[in-house]
Amino acid sequence: MKKKSQKAKEELYRRGKDVANLSACQALIEWDERTYMPLKAADQRAEMNSLLAGLIHDKFTDPKIGDLISELENSDAIKDPEAVDAVNIREFRRSYDRATKVPKRLVEELARATSLGQGVWTKGRHSGHFEEFYPLLEQILKLRKEQAEALGYKDDPYDALLEDYEPGATIAEISRVFDGFRPELVKFVHAIIDSGKRPDVSLITRSYPTERQEMFGEMVSTAIGFDYTAGRLDVTTHPFCTSFGPGDTRITTHYDPNNFAKAFFGIIHEAGHGIYDQGLPVEHWGTPMGEFVSLGIHESQSRMWENMVARSRPFWDNFLPIAKCFFPDALTGVKVEDFYFAVNDVRPSLIRIEADEVTYNLHIMLRFEMERAFFSGDLKVRDIPGAWNEKFKKYFGIAPRNDAEGCFQDVHWSAGYIGYFPTYALGNLYAAQFFVQAEKELGNLHDMFSRGEFMPLKNWLNEKIHSQGKRYRAGKLCEVITGKRLSHKPMMKYLKGKYSPLYGL
Ligand code: CO
Repeated sequence: MKKKSQKAKEELYRRGKDVANLSACQALIEWDERTYMPLKAADQRAEMNSLLAGLIHDKFTDPKIGDLISELENSDAIKDPEAVDAVNIREFRRSYDRATKVPKRLVEELARATSLGQGVWTKGRHSGHFEEFYPLLEQILKLRKEQAEALGYKDDPYDALLEDYEPGATIAEISRVFDGFRPELVKFVHAIIDSGKRPDVSLITRSYPTERQEMFGEMVSTAIGFDYTAGRLDVTTHPFCTSFGPGDTRITTHYDPNNFAKAFFGIIHEAGHGIYDQGLPVEHWGTPMGEFVSLGIHESQSRMWENMVARSRPFWDNFLPIAKCFFPDALTGVKVEDFYFAVNDVRPSLIRIEADEVTYNLHIMLRFEMERAFFSGDLKVRDIPGAWNEKFKKYFGIAPRNDAEGCFQDVHWSAGYIGYFPTYALGNLYAAQFFVQAEKELGNLHDMFSRGEFMPLKNWLNEKIHSQGKRYRAGKLCEVITGKRLSHKPMMKYLKGKYSPLYGL
């Protein structure tokens, strides 16, 4: 690299690091807001937050950053597109363009509409009536369409929104995968319902003292590789995982002393996210090479640990005897096959966040179909409830009694998050495909789990995914790791292999 480009690169990376540090400050006060902040601090906190958001935006959209990127794009730094500097320049360009292409007026209007939208949506959730929400949702859609036009896209304006969450993903590619998945999954869900078999889920809702749940959760998340010398576990209402850079990744959970599954699988889920963050390459912190790929890939990590590992039979062969020491009142005399079945209860349910790993994907595909239709204008906002209920009945065999447990149960659309939902199902599908590959390379993973050995899988994920930062887009990463593009087949095979014996199919 020429001396002048070298200087431009150092300047760009230094500025990138400043933005990353400011963003980390913002993430830290948000973490505090969602865990320990006193109620009366809300107004002052909002001011702190908006000041930081403004500083971050100004720093990152400084025209000097654009100049540095352009200079580097004309240098030999981008010769090898998968080399560290080329990846960083490509990704700085992408974020810079996305931050500068949308007019300030539109950014502000969107912020206002979504903040109002969430308020009115919350009211609707309590009353079950959303008529007041309709005009706001229409407004949000209009603004998001304008935003898509400002950002640009190749085939479909929805693709521009997907870029916020799953860079490189397109409506065409997601439809290809979902269209193969949907009919097989609907058939399988109906077979499970028709089997009439049900686990005894009362095992899960016995008395599980909170302090013991915390100790057990910390122990198991440590066993799968979450590093508590570089992280914490705290309590919140809506669990999440956040990071402030190398050495500080925080997970959260919500305990219910009469439900073992909620906090436990939540902790493992968030620890899966946390293990990804802790595995990002420290030397690239502050540049895109030190960042995660996409929400879908992030979710593939949490879902793999939560479902494919922690809801597997060998996992409980290993951990149930230990759990019995923590929870003797609840678990003495409980057989591992009964406990395993109880944590894998599949049933059609109305609420997405309570869904099991089989039906969950249907909840997502339904939302993807709905938001495609109303974003393109094919479906009017006032017709969403009818269309939702009809599809829901077809997929799940049940129908919601009102829109609060139906089409408007999630906060996403009111917050303007259109294009977000598909990343949840993509995460599941990536997880299944990665797991098959890990097993090919490492040998029988279930044998390892039954001996309490999780480091081979964790180290494999570190090497193949976490340490790669943003080198590849999600779809490409999948091809590089597994040799194939994303398919629903590994997921379907996994679900059938696990649930057919449980439900006698
Ligand atoms: Co998650």
